Amino acid sequence: MTNIKFFYGNEVPLEMHKVRIVQKLNLLPVEERVEKMKEAGFNTFLLQNRDVFMDMLTDSGVNAMSDKQQAAMLQADDSYAGSETFNRLRAKLEEIFGMKYFLPTHQGRAAENVIASAYVKKGQIIPMNYHFTTTKAHITVNGGKVEEIFIDEALNLTSTHPFKGNIDTEKLKKLIDTHGAENIGYVRMEAGTNLIGGQPHSLENLQEVRNICDQYGLMLVYDASLLQDNLHFIKERETACQNMSIREIAKEIAKQCDIIYFSARKLGAARGGGIITNDKNIYMELREYITLYEGFLTYGGMSVREMEAIAVGLEETMDEEVINQGPNFIKYMTEQFQKKGVPVVTPPGGLGCHINAMEFVDHLKQNEYPAGALAAAIYIASGVRGMERGTMSEQRNEDGTETFAHMELVRLAMPRRVFTLSQINYAVDRIAWLYENRHLIGGLRFVEEPKVLRFFFGRLEPTCDWPEKLAEAFRRDFGDSL
Ligand code: F0G
Repeated sequence: MTNIKFFYGNEVPLEMHKVRIVQKLNLLPVEERVEKMKEAGFNTFLLQNRDVFMDMLTDSGVNAMSDKQQAAMLQADDSYAGSETFNRLRAKLEEIFGMKYFLPTHQGRAAENVIASAYVKKGQIIPMNYHFTTTKAHITVNGGKVEEIFIDEALNLTSTHPFKGNIDTEKLKKLIDTHGAENIGYVRMEAGTNLIGGQPHSLENLQEVRNICDQYGLMLVYDASLLQDNLHFIKERETACQNMSIREIAKEIAKQCDIIYFSARKLGAARGGGIITNDKNIYMELREYITLYEGFLTYGGMSVREMEAIAVGLEETMDEEVINQGPNFIKYMTEQFQKKGVPVVTPPGGLGCHINAMEFVDHLKQNEYPAGALAAAIYIASGVRGMERGTMSEQRNEDGTETFAHMELVRLAMPRRVFTLSQINYAVDRIAWLYENRHLIGGLRFVEEPKVLRFFFGRLEPTCDWPEKLAEAFRRDFGDSL
């Protein structure tokens, strides 16, 4: 942890970098924001970035890159097969994780496709701490079933539990005993559990899960997309690891796993993905899928420039001063919201600040998509683009009924080193205003609903004229301000 004290108290997270390239932003008047939200079918994924002030949709592929990453991109070795760039990235992965074999993929979900195609058989169960949308889709498409065996505390939105991303090991054993190990494809552990608020798992829990896998002869597959935050939290919160370096923790995590895959749009702060393993048989089984779906074995659909940037990004991920920026800003934002009474997920996790829509708009029913409605209202009130992480992000059941999500969250992702503290303060101010006026927010209904991953491009409409009413209230309180 960077230890910087302020003489007059009032500690704020201090940026340990300086900004050398900037991009101008637009902030549209509130009436235009209502129009843009309508054009986007009340789905923040469908907004144009030029109409967005702070893009907090995701941290995927949009973290600020370092000078060293950009410099490395210039020395990329462009070749279809056998490029030096591949060798450098593979060597960096081996240095950090101690795994020899690297299968490149164009992004994280491509790795999920490869792993699920190879190791999920029809009717098999894949136990995990929590699903991610694309993970579940790939497992389901291959005829498997996701079973989440999170600890009870995982769904408690206002908790002090440091590791809400842990697997409940008793439940895991019971699940395997009930179904038989032969009906389990593999066990999956996700770092920095995305859909429950970027909550980490502990190293101890991962070691216990490993022991259970050994007992039953099961493979442990680890989704390291959000590893950088999880590493930070293990170092900060797990007593047994406080004297370990980030590098040592990363190695120890890797030791527990048969397969690690990642989205390099997150881990490595560039754009790409991959699978690593130490098991030659796994490598041989998976490599044909790479050449079939991704590209040749030494680029897997990635640009060599991005691969160079990933190698440097991975090295920088081993620096506590680099990886604490996200969690520190998220903590700051979460605490500012708490001071204003806005319901947020605690403890603050990685990835972003998560607002509890079920409580924020508690007058809306789950079939009116409270998190989707709140994400739209936040854009109207502030020009900030967040992401719905609730029932809209689920898939309907076969009979057309809704699968109501465990949580209705709006995620305000924190792309690393992208926003300044005054921008975060602006977002908090507008959203706190919205909270005071929350009774004005109404529900949504689908007008165009895709069957798979509907949250990406589904279109909705408001159930009444609440967006206009909200804009009128904004004008009353903010006058001619943007
Ligand atoms: N696993 C996790 C935990 C993720 O968060 C993501 C992506 C993926 C897999 C898929 O990786 O996007 O490179 O194909 N999460 C992004 C997000 C989309 O916004 O949270 P990908």
